[in-house]
Amino acid sequence: MKTEVQIIEHDVLVIGAGGAGLRAAIEASATGARVGLVCKSLLGKAHTVMAEGGMAASLGNVDDRDNWRVHFADTMRGGQYLNNPLMAEFHAKEAPARVNELEAWGAVFDRTKDGRILQRNFGGHRYPRLAHVGDRTGLEMIRTLQDHGIHQGIDVHMECTVVEILKEGGRVCGAFAYDRERGRFRVFKAPAIVIATGGIGRAFKITSNSWEYTGDGQALAYRAGAELMDMEFVQFHPTGMVWPPSVRGILVTEGVRGEGGVLRNKDGRRFMFDDIPENYKSSTADNEEEGWSYTQGDKNSRRPPELLTRDHVARCIVREIKAGRGSPHGGVFLDISWIKERLKNAPEHIKKKLPSMYHQFKQLAGLDITTEPMEVGPTTHYVMGGVRVDPTTQMSRVAGLFAAGESAAGLHGANRLGGNSLSDLLVFGKRAGEYAAKYAKEQKALAVNESQVEELVRKTLEPFERSGTAGAENAFVVQAALQEMMQELVGIVRTDAEMRRAIEGLKVLRQRAKKVSVEGHREFNPGWHTALELENLLTVAEAVTICALERQESRGAHFRDDFPKKSDTWSTFNLGIERGGDGEMKLSRVPLPPMTDEHKKIIAEMA
Ligand code: FUM
Repeated sequence: MKTEVQIIEHDVLVIGAGGAGLRAAIEASATGARVGLVCKSLLGKAHTVMAEGGMAASLGNVDDRDNWRVHFADTMRGGQYLNNPLMAEFHAKEAPARVNELEAWGAVFDRTKDGRILQRNFGGHRYPRLAHVGDRTGLEMIRTLQDHGIHQGIDVHMECTVVEILKEGGRVCGAFAYDRERGRFRVFKAPAIVIATGGIGRAFKITSNSWEYTGDGQALAYRAGAELMDMEFVQFHPTGMVWPPSVRGILVTEGVRGEGGVLRNKDGRRFMFDDIPENYKSSTADNEEEGWSYTQGDKNSRRPPELLTRDHVARCIVREIKAGRGSPHGGVFLDISWIKERLKNAPEHIKKKLPSMYHQFKQLAGLDITTEPMEVGPTTHYVMGGVRVDPTTQMSRVAGLFAAGESAAGLHGANRLGGNSLSDLLVFGKRAGEYAAKYAKEQKALAVNESQVEELVRKTLEPFERSGTAGAENAFVVQAALQEMMQELVGIVRTDAEMRRAIEGLKVLRQRAKKVSVEGHREFNPGWHTALELENLLTVAEAVTICALERQESRGAHFRDDFPKKSDTWSTFNLGIERGGDGEMKLSRVPLPPMTDEHKKIIAEMA
């Protein structure tokens, strides 16, 4: 008997309902396109909310020296010049308009004394640039986009997972999916699809990403024939919770450091002063007094070393921990309570500026951050790599397949500056929605190949058939083994020998994943969902490892103990990954897109 499959038609299908997905859906539906928005979880539950400290846009409200050119230069420098310069230009130029638009749609930003949107300091940004809502900026952004979007007639498909992109004659024609509650199959017919599924954090053991982030979009695009790029660049945010074990990895916003929080080792030493990179020496304070003045808005002071780029701060923390100077639970101390020495109303100030952090530590760790230091350590937060897209339209090399936000590559190069993710989601979500709708209008409807769908149904149900067979594996056990291995062998500090072990380990895990069996039936079955996600996790983990092994230098978020320096040899191309004809991953060197004369001029001026 044939398994029932529900058919749903849209002009544009957006997969992922975080900031990029919602913004893409809003833009596409504003053109009159019939838009479907698929989310793996409930609407509103997105990693976007983990960008807590703010969205970067050169509004110049706090320091009027700021403008798009400075933001462009900071982003390129943060990305160690592996960024796509045109994307960095679009982002820097368009971010202010996107922030103002969000405000017009109802986002309630913190204000300056004269009533403009307040902006705070963040690592790597020359001027206070992050428009914020306390430490809940991502949440406010999702709330606003959701409110705006649901009034636009977008069809939302919640708790739905896309298993495969469908193509006909090289063009996208839809997606095969199932609903997670009942396990019923669906085919979404659509000539244009926007992938906005976020990151790959769940490929690692310690992460700020919740269960949804299993690299689905990157893997779907890869299997559909798109190219992935920059996958070696995984960002380890310096400050995640380390204690108690059940909350390990949950984000502690960079906003804590932006508000004056300092990092100390177990001896009470502010160790970030010990290692200020040469190219940041002139802009980084070498004493506590000046660092504090900077966080309080003194334009003539240099920023504290805690606000150096995330890769550097994370490595300094690892160094302290490895040298035995860490905190009792394997982190270091992050202290905002010390500001009581400088501010009379410090506890109220902290609660006002960092309300979520206050509650997070109070409720999850029983700790009052207004009186005690937090224990923090690096956590896998973000992947700079993703689907290679056209900088203007966000379309991949597969006709009709677009990507935006964290699942796309290009804007951030080797490292993303904090706060550039939220503005990225808005700028490129909008572009992807606009161009996907435009593309869809120009296409004739394509039929979906029924036998391909039948084959997908069969494959998706396979884990049930292995139930009770000899040597059957448990999906959660295989997933945990993958996460342990990636954390251990392809983490913050990498070496050739360890990554070769990871490549071998991945082969073994692939074999184990083929034997995963699932008990029960399709309804409410997390074991089945985990079994189906394994292929995606393995794909992104392999892409990260292959690229990281290839890049024999240290740059941005990619640090090699055996090649600790940046090398000119590796500065002229990105690493691309595609599926070869034999089904194996094929690595390539993608020449960097050329900079315009203006780009070069800006970078030279700001150097
Ligand atoms: O620390 C944070 O609030 C994170 C921001 C970001 O990833 O952009």
